[in-house]
Amino acid sequence: MSKPIILVIRQLPPAMMAALQQFGDVRLLDPSATEIPAGTVLVSSAVDPVPAALIGRLPTSVGLIANIGVGYDNIDLTAATQRGIAVSNTPVVTEDTADLVFALLLATCRRLSASERHLRDGNWTAGASQLGQRVHGKRLGIVGFGAIGQAVARRARGFNMSVLYHGPAPSPDAAAALEARFCPTLEELLREADIVSLNCILKAQTRHLMNAETLAMLKPGAVLINAGRGPLVDENALVDALRAGNLGGVGLDVFEFEPKVTPALLEFDNVTLLPHIGSATGECRMDMARRVCANIGQFLQHGVPLDRCN
Ligand code: 8YV
Repeated sequence: MSKPIILVIRQLPPAMMAALQQFGDVRLLDPSATEIPAGTVLVSSAVDPVPAALIGRLPTSVGLIANIGVGYDNIDLTAATQRGIAVSNTPVVTEDTADLVFALLLATCRRLSASERHLRDGNWTAGASQLGQRVHGKRLGIVGFGAIGQAVARRARGFNMSVLYHGPAPSPDAAAALEARFCPTLEELLREADIVSLNCILKAQTRHLMNAETLAMLKPGAVLINAGRGPLVDENALVDALRAGNLGGVGLDVFEFEPKVTPALLEFDNVTLLPHIGSATGECRMDMARRVCANIGQFLQHGVPLDRCN
């Protein structure tokens, strides 16, 4: 039998490329090329678009799209399913992403980025006079109470915060363990929370979940944190809300037009911006590499990946 060919959609870190070589030849795929080489598995990351047009052009030999990342909104799942291509993800980023959400939340509420920027510019006084807002004891509203949302809630309990959550359905066991209260509507959560963290998945129904109308529901001075997916927030509406002075702060790890950042967001001292680093710890990236290999290995041996998404 011929050796499997692993197509990668971008140059991955050397350790990852080396790990993939255990399965066969690893080839870089240029999604815009007219001719796509034969392959058995396509490896993508959560920030590489794999639209229906690309899926339609994949050779019939491709049986798996192995995504590196827990989110797979970058892949047209319907198109993959229609072509009989399995899609897998790496659901091993929960705790590292929740750590990052909390780091972003603390940095935003306490204006760490602006303070440090002033200090590095030699302006100690401007840095020291950045007045942030208290975190402990505040009311945190978590939108999306899956694994990451719940891991954020666990951290919030350590800060003596009260937790509200909203999602398509209540999660009574997790909510009881975390003393979190379900808000049946997004509006209820937005009107009550001091700090809102977006941890839901991106799909048609959640695109622009935060828009002019929902941003206006936030309490005056509320803080918004998004380390989920950029298009959950309408960035133009967000800039308008910031300009109007309605928000206490905004922390973003993800962007609507990633990797482009809406330039107006750079104007504000109460905004913290990070380049999509939720899973960016050495340990987490190793876990993700191991998991994508486990998915490919399982697929090559048994025809089904470990973490099948479709
Ligand atoms: C990215 C992520 O995969 O797991 C996800 O869904 O968004 C991240 O882990 C990672 O940042 C690669 O760019």
